[in-house]
Amino acid sequence: MNVLVIGSGGREHAIVWKVSQSPRLTRLYALPGNPGMAELAENIGGISVDDHAAIGAFCKGERIDLVIVGPEAPLAAGLVDSLSAEGICCFGPKQAAAEVEASKVFAKDFMARHHIPTAGYATFRQFDEALRYLESVNYPIVIKVSGLAAGKGVVLPETMDEAKATLESILVDKAFGDAGDEVVIEERMTGQEVSLMAFTDGTSVVPMLPAQDHKRLLDGDHGPNTGGMGAYAPAPVFTAEMMNEAVETVLKPAVNGLKSEGTPFVGVLYAGLMLTPNGIRVLEFNCRFGDPETQVVLPLLETDLLEIAEACVNGNLTDVDIRWGKGAAVCVVLASKGYPEKVESGKFVKIEDLPEDIVCFHAGTKNENGNLITSGGRVFGLTAWANEIGVAIENVYANIRKVAFEGVQYRRDIAGKVLNG
Ligand code: AMP
Ligand code: GLY
Repeated sequence: MNVLVIGSGGREHAIVWKVSQSPRLTRLYALPGNPGMAELAENIGGISVDDHAAIGAFCKGERIDLVIVGPEAPLAAGLVDSLSAEGICCFGPKQAAAEVEASKVFAKDFMARHHIPTAGYATFRQFDEALRYLESVNYPIVIKVSGLAAGKGVVLPETMDEAKATLESILVDKAFGDAGDEVVIEERMTGQEVSLMAFTDGTSVVPMLPAQDHKRLLDGDHGPNTGGMGAYAPAPVFTAEMMNEAVETVLKPAVNGLKSEGTPFVGVLYAGLMLTPNGIRVLEFNCRFGDPETQVVLPLLETDLLEIAEACVNGNLTDVDIRWGKGAAVCVVLASKGYPEKVESGKFVKIEDLPEDIVCFHAGTKNENGNLITSGGRVFGLTAWANEIGVAIENVYANIRKVAFEGVQYRRDIAGKVLNG
């Protein structure tokens, strides 16, 4: 198979790394890719991810058998619709199904229609109405912009003043542009969070190992929210009973619901779950692999990812036996100075040789005049795996100084919860 992976982050490097091990693979391309992916795939420059016609022409010219779309933006922009119309196979949902992530209003209404457990909510376009609602509720709330906001569109206000200011900035000042034309005001829940990704062919659904992300910048879950500072899998807090509950009350109803509404979902459906005292609740759906979760889940996948992706596209996922390794994986994100606010880029990177059971996934790097330099907030995800999670944690931190650039910041406590409670 000739395969094209769309994207340039740590998630896509992990996908390329896994696909590169497939016995089915002939040629592998990444668009636009990154320097880490360049060691395993041919990076395609000069074509914008927004240029569906050019991507289609490339796929035809290179006889691409499968396109795997990493990020949400091209999915929400209908890349899969455009390529499918030309007869090109894609692993990833069409635009209408990608709405589960691209519109939080759609997602909440969809969950309500299909009785999928989630926090109580109301949606607003008008500031005045939102304000009146705010004043009428007497419990803590969360405010979310409906559209895509690169993980920044969720605010947990501590006071009424902060809540009002947040609504004003979204609905009046348009701080998020069109993405904030509508907001969801949601009941605030408490509990541990689990990222549960699942493969689906539109009809059947197979969960991956549960993972936990670390969204806050600093140790002990302090500091601002980020795109994710590290992850580990599997998450022992998520018991077999919970997995069963999530499959029956979340994943199956979601996949069946999308199918019954005429917008079947093919690809990876990601459920962000909260384990509340009243059971599992959905925080959000994403229409793609999670980042950094993918960097810990794919190293534990024993089955050929291309076999799974092909089965999803062909609607016969039930024929594939999806197997997982027994151990655990831990990913620590190395971020630039200033992340997640004002990021310093352009720093030289030095990577020493790493042991076999550790990979350094690139997330924000580029080559300039033959040098590897930093080019983003999250620069690398260093991932280790072992039979025991304690060993994976030890290994990742024992090797972390082998990946060096000025101003590097990372958390020292990724997966610490598993060992320390
Ligand atoms: P989302 O993008 O919707 O998953 O929200 C981002 C983060 O905000 C989640 O990972 C949670 O930590 C937090 N969050 C979102 N919704 C709620 C809620 N209803 N109650 C408590 N925390 C929430
Ligand atoms: N790690 C959160 C996400 O991928 O959306």
